[in-house]
Amino acid sequence: MTEPTPQATTTDRPVITRTPRELREALTGAGRTALVPTMGALHEGHCSLMRLAREQADTVVVSIFVNPLQFGPDEDLDRYPRDLATDTEICAKEGVDVIFAPEERTMYPTEQMITVEAGSMGRRLEGASRPGHFTGVLTVVAKLFHLVRPDLAVFGAKDVQQLFLVRRMVVDLNFPVEIVSAPILRDHDGLASSSRNVYLTPEERVGALSLSRALRVGADAALDGARAVRVAARAVMDAAAEADPPVALDHLALVDPATFDDVPDDHEGEAILAVAAHVGTTRLIDNVLVTIP
Ligand code: PAF
Repeated sequence: MTEPTPQATTTDRPVITRTPRELREALTGAGRTALVPTMGALHEGHCSLMRLAREQADTVVVSIFVNPLQFGPDEDLDRYPRDLATDTEICAKEGVDVIFAPEERTMYPTEQMITVEAGSMGRRLEGASRPGHFTGVLTVVAKLFHLVRPDLAVFGAKDVQQLFLVRRMVVDLNFPVEIVSAPILRDHDGLASSSRNVYLTPEERVGALSLSRALRVGADAALDGARAVRVAARAVMDAAAEADPPVALDHLALVDPATFDDVPDDHEGEAILAVAAHVGTTRLIDNVLVTIP
């Protein structure tokens, strides 16, 4: 369903564009341009991406598009929060210049035949739990890069596999775009900022803290090696599975950042400890970079 275009706020920024033509007009003489791709439901985490973009570019574009291609048939596409008016206010406060909020028929004028495949890295972890997810992500990000033609694009480190795959796509497909990563933003209690946090009941939110706790406890065990990291983090998630409400672990893995394959127990150097779990009907993810001496 098409949302009405909100009226411009007190300033004339951000300019809201719905079509590639409007976007190109808004970007005339834009100078160095940064893109922050989002699916809307903007929160503090997104604001931190916008601030990074603002520091590095003359013009900041935020795209807002809930991309159907990256949702599986049983996922939350229909209930994904959509509120362009509130998102516009947030963008205005962050000094965003242009919002690109296309309709589905603009991004997918025909049934998508040609897609960007994510390769073996895209079938690990999130890709294993959500088949086709990264094909959907890379395909829409490629389209956004073609439409916006940014000099740089900012992605959050919470979706770490997405970040690494986009970096790889840019190299493998020769996109002239610099990829900037923004650190994970956490609430005071450690929960990673996510548009899906709004689904959580107060009790589920308490359960959701097990994800960041598992990562913290795992990272603290890094001095004792990769196996100790996994065991320590797993113990937290096992306890959370028994709690009320239970936290249903999807995956907990210690992986090589270059491949997203599991690292061996005698691994030395950097690794990503990644977790995904369901709390009630909400699927949450989180990760931390650990260095194993
Ligand atoms: O991270 C997201 O919000 C989405 O995966 C993205 C990058 C906007 C593509 O739809």
